[in-house]
Amino acid sequence: MKPDTTSPDATTADLPLETRAALGSGRDFWTTKDVAGVPSITLTDGPHGIRLQTGATDHLGLAGSLPATCFPPAAGLSQSWDPELVERVGAALAEEAQAADVQVLLGPGINIKRSPLGGRNFEFYSEDPHLAGTLGAAWVSGLQSGGVGASLKHFALNNQEDDRMRVSADVDPRPLREVYLRAFRQVVEDAQPATVMCSYNAVNGVPVRHNRHLLTDILRGEWGFRGAVVSDWGAVGGRVEAVRAGLDLQMPSDGGGSDAEVVAAVRSGELDEAAVTTAADRVAALARNARAARREGASFGDDVQQAHHELAREAAARSIVLLKNDPADGRHILPIADSGVTGSVAVIGPFAETPRYQGGGSSHVNATEVDSPLEQLRERLGAPVTYAAGFTTDGSGRNAALLAEAVEDAANADIAVVFLGLAENQESEGFDRTTIELPAGQLSLLRAVRAVQERVVVVLSHGGALELGQVKRSAPAILDGNLLGQGGGAALADVLTGVVNPSGKLSETMPARLADNPAYLDFPGEHGHVRYGEGLFVGYRWYDARELGVAFPFGHGLSYTTFAYSEAFAQPDDDGDGITVSLTVTNTGKRAGREVVQAYVAVPDSAQVRVPRALAGFGSVTLEPGESSDLEIHLDRRDLEYWDIRADRFVLEPGRYVVHLGSSSRDLRAEVEVDLEGEEVAVPLTLQSSLGEAMAHPAVAQALGQAMAAFTGGDGDGDGAATGEALGVDMAKMMASIPLDRIVGFSNGAVSAEQLQQLLDAANHH
Ligand code: BGC
Repeated sequence: MKPDTTSPDATTADLPLETRAALGSGRDFWTTKDVAGVPSITLTDGPHGIRLQTGATDHLGLAGSLPATCFPPAAGLSQSWDPELVERVGAALAEEAQAADVQVLLGPGINIKRSPLGGRNFEFYSEDPHLAGTLGAAWVSGLQSGGVGASLKHFALNNQEDDRMRVSADVDPRPLREVYLRAFRQVVEDAQPATVMCSYNAVNGVPVRHNRHLLTDILRGEWGFRGAVVSDWGAVGGRVEAVRAGLDLQMPSDGGGSDAEVVAAVRSGELDEAAVTTAADRVAALARNARAARREGASFGDDVQQAHHELAREAAARSIVLLKNDPADGRHILPIADSGVTGSVAVIGPFAETPRYQGGGSSHVNATEVDSPLEQLRERLGAPVTYAAGFTTDGSGRNAALLAEAVEDAANADIAVVFLGLAENQESEGFDRTTIELPAGQLSLLRAVRAVQERVVVVLSHGGALELGQVKRSAPAILDGNLLGQGGGAALADVLTGVVNPSGKLSETMPARLADNPAYLDFPGEHGHVRYGEGLFVGYRWYDARELGVAFPFGHGLSYTTFAYSEAFAQPDDDGDGITVSLTVTNTGKRAGREVVQAYVAVPDSAQVRVPRALAGFGSVTLEPGESSDLEIHLDRRDLEYWDIRADRFVLEPGRYVVHLGSSSRDLRAEVEVDLEGEEVAVPLTLQSSLGEAMAHPAVAQALGQAMAAFTGGDGDGDGAATGEALGVDMAKMMASIPLDRIVGFSNGAVSAEQLQQLLDAANHH
């Protein structure tokens, strides 16, 4: 009888081994095989739009793709701090994927922005794992609610482009767990993506595709992942070992021989056949589920296109950050509508005409339409608008004639709006940046404009963090557009003119200097290794711990109105695991606006290495002028625990947790405290334990103190006071680090190993 592979719980176990092995690799660049009743599915990029190549398929960007909505890339969208919006974007992407007959969209990219130089930072959400995990989970939930599978990528520690296919990210257990795997865990546990994409790189020397600890023990064993592990495109070498580690699907194809290698390995006894069946079952289940979720008749008609363009504009508007809005001439410059402009507005910079709205590489979308900020501003402003380029987007951008023209416009206008940023060829997938400075020609243009015009607004477009010292000094007002997708032009015009009150917050620190960055000294590593030497101190956690000044802190973003926080209160959950914080937020200004409140946790009396404060939750309220509203933010146990390297697991440390509520990571406005019972880590005492550790144990202290007195001449309390005085030291402190087995030698037999062991046994059984 022919095995039935179409029923939901069908196993492929009865299929020939060759067929099962074949299911574990793609048919071609974007599809899986249609064999033995298992349907073929299409996987495509992702993440901020559908990049479905039609004719030729390639990885070189030569072949075009179907028109699709280009939503803000992750770097831009993350500035919304709005999971509900991100979920709606995910659902819209699913609609377009359904119309294009795509079953898996290759996203979200949630890798941590370790260094601002990371070439793909524009595709990732944040330097903070809680923010990346929350937004990533929302995106997956939205997409999968529309019957399209996600591919959570790039698992794991794919934090740089340099040598990205080989480099080993060498990281200690705590940052691995608390920073780099943290967001992946959240997305898997909370949103169960259909697939997880195994990254190109290695972790601690083992290529991720061969890393059973990551692909199976952690991903499935600890987090309960039920989907399929897909390789990044071209990540697989050594397929047999990869299948053994837990890789289910090699993409784009078996490279002409790895299916046969898998068959041969089973026949020779090198590979357990069950591993091949499990992988085939997972691919079959993925394909069947995806096909079953197919929405027949889905189309990307004009009405859907229009609705999605509107959503792209809404998402863009929510993602814009007002970095600075100082008064000039006694009034705030922004919004322009309120700033008393009666004459003309000088718009300067090529990005005003031809916006920079997405990044280069596999995520590049063929947008259905692109709003031009210049045109949108012209539509909204009653005042005359002039335009001058001022600089070019290649090289340094310097051009004397263009500069002169722009300066003349600025001098004759009431206000100058200067669009600065990075061109697409200055940052992209495949290579890292070498600088975070804006091109020199743009900075000299800004200085020249500022010399003739006091009212200057700078609008920034860029995927990665920038050094903004000079911009901050020159411009009284700055809007950070990051990358906003195809609706960014309208969104910027709405924020500039005041139709929209900005509420975005930075999802990445803007450092004062590149050299201040925690990864500065060992990014991108050498000879195939990059050492994550900064440990837990990634992003703001580092700048805060080192008390370094930054241009704009993580979480920063102003509004055209102001907010006050009051009535802050914190309470542990009934089970003692998490914390619920509540507060009242009041709009104390003259405009309606939205405030994102951020909750940062500190454990000041911790016995562990801790960062000063870490984001553990956030929430937002939208308020009319004068209006107040209560806001509740839940802090999950996952964001309070630390990874204990002795116990090899997460531990909730007992003690006092201080929750700082802030409008940014450095604008902390309320502080509440909670005591959590937590759990003690029981570490058995051994002869390798130190004297200090043993003396801290109540069941041992007295007896050990007496034994010690026998040779230190102390008074029996173990502090060896008598001898210590003679040497001019505090003997208890000096001896605290001595391992117990060494005491035997030091005491010249006065304390025996047996005696110590008896004490330890008694303590360990206590
Ligand atoms: C990228 C992935 C992408 C895949 C397919 C790879 O080079 O790293 O992010 O999804 O190609 O285009």
